[in-house]
Amino acid sequence: MAREVIPSGAALGADVRGIDFSLPLSADDKAFVQQAWNDHLVLRFQDQDLEDEDLIRMADDFGGSQVAGSRQYYINAGYDTKSGRVSRLPGITIVSNLDKDGKPEKANSGTGSSELLWHTDNSYVDNPPKGSILYGIQVPINGGGDTSFVNQYETYDALSEAMKKRLLTLHIRHDNSRNTAGGTRPTAKRPETREDVEGPVHPMVRKHPDTGRNALYLGRRYASPSSYIVELPQDESEDLLDELWAHATQDKYVWTQVWTPKDTIMWDNRCTMHTRSQIDHTQPRELHRSLIKGEPIIAATEI
Ligand SMILES: [Fe+2]
Repeated sequence: MAREVIPSGAALGADVRGIDFSLPLSADDKAFVQQAWNDHLVLRFQDQDLEDEDLIRMADDFGGSQVAGSRQYYINAGYDTKSGRVSRLPGITIVSNLDKDGKPEKANSGTGSSELLWHTDNSYVDNPPKGSILYGIQVPINGGGDTSFVNQYETYDALSEAMKKRLLTLHIRHDNSRNTAGGTRPTAKRPETREDVEGPVHPMVRKHPDTGRNALYLGRRYASPSSYIVELPQDESEDLLDELWAHATQDKYVWTQVWTPKDTIMWDNRCTMHTRSQIDHTQPRELHRSLIKGEPIIAATEI
């Protein structure tokens, strides 16, 4: 099949045809996918027949595989590869609403069937992955679990010049204690004061190393005390985060993926955020994810 990129028509996202990730990619195919990724931020490849090893090779092709920050929390809490939570391959994260017997559940030891908060993957580690690759194995039919993405170049570009200037000097401490369903990670301690919040400090505006564009970098948001702007007192930090989160998740910046089995989505964590709608907990949903290793975050220094 001829290679082709078909933009979604929304603020981000495109279908890419004519690429088969079950086979090693040629250098030319890699360059084609890289260009489409820079242009559209989120790519969908349909009808892919992939094993976990293929998902790792995809990550390797675009910068190397990275182990998810959540894996160690589960291992520390005693989860093993038989738990259905921890993959035999360190580079694979299992995203599912199944219990350990393979039955769909409302809640499990992961994020279950819950709606997820807007977030970028692993913003709570020092070097977050630059991209994520998610492969649909079992997905509900008309049962939710849709993944929406938002374009953080566009949300940055739409800010006033004064706000852009202000954000260049600010950083967020990214709370590492909770998952994106809002649950406390196994063995982690939920902060009771701002001083208790643990996690790395990242700039609020990052410069994309490939495109040179600035993007808002918000990570994720929980009720205070949680992630906060380190240069501001708590009430000012909350007010500014309220304003930016409301701005950065507007429908006009969003494209939504409605899953079909064998869909493979590859997104850029440096310039997008994503969320998941609630899942019909009577239907099984299992996806496998690999992460593309991130370079150290580059802070934007000019608007
Ligand atoms: Fe995620």
